[in-house]
Amino acid sequence: MLSDAPSPPAPAAVLCGLAGWVPPRVVTNDELAERLDTDDTWIRTRTGIRTRHLADPGQATSDLAVEAGRLALRSAGGGSVDTVIVTTTTPDRPCPATAPGVAARLGLDGVAAFDVGAVCTGFVYGLATAAGLIAAGVARRVLLIGADTYSTIVDPLDRANAIIFGDGAGAVVLRAGHPDEPGAVGHFDLGSDGAHEELITIAAGGSRQRSRPGEPTWEERHFAMRGTEVYRHAVTRMAASARATLDKAGWKIDDVDHFVPHQANLRILHSVADSLDLSRERCVAHIDAVGNTGAASIPLALADAAARQRIRPGERLLLTAFGGGLTWGSCLLTWPSLPDPPRQEERTTP
Ligand code: UT7
Repeated sequence: MLSDAPSPPAPAAVLCGLAGWVPPRVVTNDELAERLDTDDTWIRTRTGIRTRHLADPGQATSDLAVEAGRLALRSAGGGSVDTVIVTTTTPDRPCPATAPGVAARLGLDGVAAFDVGAVCTGFVYGLATAAGLIAAGVARRVLLIGADTYSTIVDPLDRANAIIFGDGAGAVVLRAGHPDEPGAVGHFDLGSDGAHEELITIAAGGSRQRSRPGEPTWEERHFAMRGTEVYRHAVTRMAASARATLDKAGWKIDDVDHFVPHQANLRILHSVADSLDLSRERCVAHIDAVGNTGAASIPLALADAAARQRIRPGERLLLTAFGGGLTWGSCLLTWPSLPDPPRQEERTTP
C-alpha cells in the first residue's frame, strides 16, 4: 500500500574532517628572481604571493594526496570511508587514475576510487560529485582530495606562470547526514564554457596530439595560460556563480560570514569580493604563503583558516572556484565543529 507520509529528505554530504599538506620546500620570490626576469615587488603587487611550496624531484601528486588524506581521516576522528575522489590537473600518469593508488596507500582496500578533472574548479566539482553519491545512497562516507603539483607541468623559465603556481594537497571527509546540520554542503552552482578551452591548456599528452604524427614541442608539453584573458573571465564568472548560488539558497551577501575563493591571484579575489559588495576582510586569502595550488587551493585555505580559528563553527561560508575548461562553481556550507580540527602545527604555512 502507498503511504501518504512525506518521504525523508535525501541524505546530505556533511563535512566532518579537513586537512591540508604542502611539501616542506619553500621557494621565495627572491629565489625565483635569481633565474627569472622578475622581482619580489612585481610578484607581490600583481599577485599577492610571497612564497610557494614546491615538490622535490621524484615527489608526485599522489604523495601529497596521501599526506593530506591521512590527516583528514584523523581530523574526522578516524574510521574508514567507502569512496575516494582525487581531483587534480597533474595526475601521476594518464592511466590509471590517481585515486585508486592513493586509496591503497591509505589502507582503504576495495573502496570506490576515481579522479575528477575540472582544473582549478576541481574541488567544488568534487564536492558536488560526493554530495550526489551520498544523496543517491551510493556512498556513505567520502574522502575528497584536491591535489596538484604544478611544478611538474609549468616551464620553470615561464615567468608568467612559474611565479603563480605552488604544489599542495587539501582533503575533506564527507559523511551522510541531514541537510540542515552544520557542515552540510549545498546549494551548488556549476558551469563551463568550452568555447574558451584554449585559454588554459597543456596541448600534448592526450589523444588530440597523439593522433597526429610527430613529437610534441617543449611548449606543447608544458602548461600554457593566456593570463590576462583568464583574469577577466575569472572575475566575472566567479562573481556570477557566487550570486547564482546565493539566489538558489535565498541568502543575501550579508548572510555570508566568509567568502573562500579559489586562490588564483589576490587581485582577482579582491575584485570578486568588491563586485559582490562583500568586504575584503570577509574574503579568506591564503595565497601569500602557498601561491595558486590548483584543485588544492580551497581546502588548503579552509584548513589554514580553521587552524587559525579565522573560521569558527556556526559561521556561514561561500566557496567559489574558477579554472581551465573554462569551468566554475560555488557552494555554501555552515562551518561544523570538527572532532579533531586542523592544529596550528599542521598549518600549511610556516
Ligand atoms: O587558477 C586558474 C585561473 N588562473 C588565474 O586566474 C590567473 C589569472 N591571471 C593572472 O593572475 C595574471 O594575468 C598574471 C599574474 C598571470 C599576469 O599578470 P597581469 O597583470 O595580467 O600581467 P600581464 O600578463 O598583462 O603582463 C603585464 C606586463 C607585461 O610586460 P609589458 O608587455 O607590459 O612590458 C609582462 O611581460 O608584466 C610583464 N610580466 C612580468 N613582469 C615581471 C609578466 N609576468 C611578469 C613577471 N615579472 N613574473
